Amino acid sequence: MTPLLSAIGIKKTFGHVTALKGVDFAISPGETVALVGDNGAGKSTLMKVLCGVYQPDEGELRINDRLVVFKTPREAITAGISVVHQNLALVDVRDVTHNVFLGAEPTKGLFVDRYAMEQETYRLLQRLKLNIPPDIKVGELSGGQRQSVAIARAIHQGGQLVIMDEPTAALGVQEQAKVLKLIGDLREHGTAVCVVSHNLEHVFHLADRIVVLRGGAIAGERKRSETNPQEIVHLITGANVVVGGVG
Ligand SMILES: Nc1ncnc2c1ncn2[C@@H]1O[C@H](COP(=O)(O)OP(=O)(O)OP(=O)(O)O)[C@@H](O)[C@H]1O
Ligand SMILES: [Mg+2]
Repeated sequence: MTPLLSAIGIKKTFGHVTALKGVDFAISPGETVALVGDNGAGKSTLMKVLCGVYQPDEGELRINDRLVVFKTPREAITAGISVVHQNLALVDVRDVTHNVFLGAEPTKGLFVDRYAMEQETYRLLQRLKLNIPPDIKVGELSGGQRQSVAIARAIHQGGQLVIMDEPTAALGVQEQAKVLKLIGDLREHGTAVCVVSHNLEHVFHLADRIVVLRGGAIAGERKRSETNPQEIVHLITGANVVVGGVG
């Protein structure tokens, strides 16, 4: 199958730091891929290259095997790639509807079409089975609800691929479960999902395939059905580590 998105030979440096040393990455339609690696391995940098926040120093991106260059995140969104950043980038003092449409409000004549926005937000929340009022201020929501709104916005942007950086970090156990369910539902809808996570339990729950970055390079990749947490930890650290202690 032609990958939905492929990145070939991506290199990215920040001053003297080489964050990505020539990384190849691909994701197919409907696939859920987990991107794992230790702190500083280059995960967030790779995600930001894929979604137009950073331009790579070297290498190329292809969508359905056609060369693309994203100069801005908006260009990536137009090409079907949306992102949920770790810091979510929501506006706390505005309501859910406003946040779903942020930067892409529909207009009617000269004015923002608030009614259309509310209708569409309502339908979106229904479809995602999210019990969140569209007119509540985002600052009043729980962490899991905020995460859900950020994911809803990415879906609203119409992505064929949704990229998420640590979607379950900083959430309580119940909220984690809800967000995992939401990601699972996306997959059911045929959306490709790329998730960065430090939580291997979640990774093994969600992913079809696990890609490991170490020191800015791909340390290995495995189908979930053909690996185990110990092997993934080994790839992450480059050393043999016993998971769960001895005995
Ligand atoms: N904007 C930046 N300026 C300078 N250095 C950066 C920048 N962004 C990332 N780096 C460096 O690039 C390397 C990769 O960082 P990156 O944030 O991609 O890692 P990560 O895998 O997402 O780590 P974490 O798990 O801690 O989020 C690190 O050494 C980091 O310090
Ligand atoms: Mg990161």
